[in-house]
Amino acid sequence: MSSSIKMHGQSQVCEKFTRKKHGEQSPQESLHVGTYAIAVLPGDGIGPEVVEQAVRVLQSVGRRFGHTFELTRAMVGVAAIEAEGEAISDATMELCQRSDAILFGAVGGLPRFEGPNSKKQPESALFRLRKELELYANLRPVKPFQALLDASTIKREVLEGTDLLVVRELTGGLYFGKPSEIRETAQGLEAVDTLFYTEAEIARIVRTACELARSRKKKVTSVDKANVLSSSRLWRRVADRVAAEYPDITLEHQLVDSCAMQLIRWPRQFDVVVTENMFGDILTDEASMLAGSLGMLPSASLGTRRTAHGLFGLYEPIHGTAPDITGQDKANPIAAILTAALMLRYSFNLSAEADAIEAAVERAIADGYRTLDLREEGKTTVGTKEMGRIIAEAVER
Ligand code: IPM
Ligand code: MG
Repeated sequence: MSSSIKMHGQSQVCEKFTRKKHGEQSPQESLHVGTYAIAVLPGDGIGPEVVEQAVRVLQSVGRRFGHTFELTRAMVGVAAIEAEGEAISDATMELCQRSDAILFGAVGGLPRFEGPNSKKQPESALFRLRKELELYANLRPVKPFQALLDASTIKREVLEGTDLLVVRELTGGLYFGKPSEIRETAQGLEAVDTLFYTEAEIARIVRTACELARSRKKKVTSVDKANVLSSSRLWRRVADRVAAEYPDITLEHQLVDSCAMQLIRWPRQFDVVVTENMFGDILTDEASMLAGSLGMLPSASLGTRRTAHGLFGLYEPIHGTAPDITGQDKANPIAAILTAALMLRYSFNLSAEADAIEAAVERAIADGYRTLDLREEGKTTVGTKEMGRIIAEAVER
């Protein structure tokens, strides 16, 4: 095994891990040994800590299955604003464009800079990546691990059998509609945000949901606020039209307030949930509690662009920066580790490798290891690094 570290410009470090030769693999393991270029953007808060553990687990996958992951690190968020003047630089955008996938930590959560559209707002790194790379479909799977059913604040009998996938529209809606600003008037300040969608934007995300439902339980719940919003009335009309192209799929509609309630009342009713950008943001933080903690949910952001290996994508845990626990070895790295598994599955078509990561996480939990967010009587509480080590070792076992 050799590993080299290269410097690229001021913010980028490339580590290349060359793994075992083919002959050292066991015969049942992947026959497709590949080289994959990953842009690693750890970001702010707990982002770097959890991404470090995801990288460690990827290294274990590389060793076990014989793949080479070429990791190139770059700054985003607050560190990039300080060092490079903007939340994500053009050089980092180019690095992402050249890569097969992006592994992202978290940005923001710190004192506000200049407003949502400013390049000096840490979150704008994420918005620029999502918009310019046209990553319009954000997949957030929620499937609680059996051994964590008692760790949730929700009753075990409610959680049992939950297996849902939220498909959040990611490049439109309330996050991107113009105008979005605070302005001065003679009567004082006023503010506006705009919830704007085109038919085409709605149709492509509903289509993504229907395609994904085909390999699941064939049910799509479209979530809107059609009793109030015009954008939702269009959403509902387009969803009906698109779903008609999928006779094998059952489409139902729910209002977002009711859906928020149903998610914790009877989560088993859901298979694929498709919804507007901000509704999806809110519902997925809620849904994370079905999996025990916000620190458990991974996400994949996909578009239509393909690389030599599969669909290009951006992969991030949904939890954000958690400034209150930053740098204390308290964060749960599992969302970031499961995010790496999604990357292997969707962008590299390495499903056995993705399964190996998920099985290793399951193993660590079944063996009684818990980070602070999931601590339980009679279980072993471990830190971020220790959890990463345990999972990485389980991958290679
Ligand atoms: C998420 C996050 C982001 C979002 C923040 C950090 C801007 O909450 O990915 O869910 O709102 O999209
Ligand atoms: Mg969120």
